[in-house]
Amino acid sequence: MAFNYITAEEAAAMIPNGATVGMSGFTAPGTPKAIPTAIAHKAEAEHAEGRPYKINLFTGASSSDRADGMLSRANAINMRAPYQNVPDLRKRINSHDCHYFDRHLSEMAQEVRYGFYGPIDFAIIEAAHITPDGEIILGTGVGNVPTYAHLAKHIFIELNEALPKELEGMHDVIMLQDPPHRPAININSPKDRIGSPVLKVDPNKIVGIVKTNYLDGVHEFTAPDEVSKKIGSNVVRFLLNEYKKGGIPKEFLPLQSGVGNVANAVLYDLAESPEIPPFMMYTEVIQDAVLELMRKGKCTFASTCSMTFADSTEEKLFADLSEFRDKILMRPAELSNNPEVIRRLGVIAMNTALEADIFGNVNSTHVLGTKMMNGIGGSGDFARNAYISIFSCPSITKGGAISNIVPMAAHVDHSEHSVDILVTDQGIADLRAKDPVQRAHEIIENCAHPMYKELLYDYLKQGKGGQTPVSLDKSFAFHNAFNETGDMRNAKF
Ligand code: COA
Repeated sequence: MAFNYITAEEAAAMIPNGATVGMSGFTAPGTPKAIPTAIAHKAEAEHAEGRPYKINLFTGASSSDRADGMLSRANAINMRAPYQNVPDLRKRINSHDCHYFDRHLSEMAQEVRYGFYGPIDFAIIEAAHITPDGEIILGTGVGNVPTYAHLAKHIFIELNEALPKELEGMHDVIMLQDPPHRPAININSPKDRIGSPVLKVDPNKIVGIVKTNYLDGVHEFTAPDEVSKKIGSNVVRFLLNEYKKGGIPKEFLPLQSGVGNVANAVLYDLAESPEIPPFMMYTEVIQDAVLELMRKGKCTFASTCSMTFADSTEEKLFADLSEFRDKILMRPAELSNNPEVIRRLGVIAMNTALEADIFGNVNSTHVLGTKMMNGIGGSGDFARNAYISIFSCPSITKGGAISNIVPMAAHVDHSEHSVDILVTDQGIADLRAKDPVQRAHEIIENCAHPMYKELLYDYLKQGKGGQTPVSLDKSFAFHNAFNETGDMRNAKF
């Protein structure tokens, strides 16, 4: 079949106000790069003429500034799910210009298929290559593209000439069947494949192909600061102790790690720990540190949804793809983050909190309880089903004006029932087999910053009895003090 090559502007012109668009990708990798920007320009032009123009946008996770950033600045997003991390979109969400709902990433595709969010009008798919009969070699991130491509009435492809065709074989593409017809997922090791190396779409639905030539635009990570390094070394210390005492089997277990500096610091520290044997990863994102671990033979295989590498690392990878082709497998989010698989493989989950309370509840999403930061992402998929679920955060933020350990989390994403280990720069709190009061002592003693310990103990003493001695009238004294005086240390009990 001969394809119709068009410009990004021609594609945008075909997407009307109110359309629902599903895009490939997971973080910037795999996210289309030209059409979202063209849609943003179209929105600006429409708004200048006094006409309404917004789309509903579904992705696999966060996208990029070329997509979420451009579209938000143009105020072109009506509804957005399931995750984002772009400052300009965050502003639109918190000012109610954009209706955002964050979902567990493993659930998004099936919920779209169940029809909970209405029909998908357009899918925009980034491809490294496409065959005449509609077989697509995807880019460096998958997300929910099998579902969006299957359901969309019309498909646009962005054929990215910066992506090597040799990515073929690094994807495991499948769309799960829906209940009551879904069989068990036959992944018994991170290496097991159950899908196809290519995405197959109906060629008749492909309206046009836009050629692009961009790397993913991921910035280099800054070197971890002192606090991140301390958190990283505490996480590794915990893993090592647990391994030595037999809490982790001798073969070790697959790891999941989030994005950011702490995650990178943990992975670099693991590389330097000879007592920890080579391990595999079952995770949603791999960052630069993983390639280094692979080169050193420390990480033997990674199942992921995307390769979120800085552009400089991506260039090196593309030049040397043969070294990694059989060590990395990219899958859709409903597989990379699948609770059934995570539970069975015994994944050790390492995620980040904004704040945690003294009983072990974690807030990962809402600053001071109200302002959306990014979203729950895959943290719930992994934490709830992990063999051991570790959360980490600094003990203090903003020079100590904020304690990340608070009397009660102002918003709860991960409850006390899903948090096994809490780590800060101060130390490690092991919450397993402890009742709420024991957990409170463990957290205050090991994780709170010394400048907040006494205040937290004062709060605990106010408890009104019961198994979990919260003081309902004082629970948010830290947050109130910050809102009123700019410093949680002014909390009074
Ligand atoms: N109260 C108020 N503000 C806080 C805060 C708190 N308790 N904790 C942190 N902040 C502020 C920081 O000061 C910083 O502000 P700045 O941008 O003005 O400097 C900002 O929030 C980000 O903090 P930082 O420590 O740099 O966060 P991070 O980059 O490590 O991200 C999460 C932490 C929780 C926001 C991030 O990990 C996330 O979105 N998690 C949910 C998704 C997830 O876990 N996915 C699964 C793995 S990919």
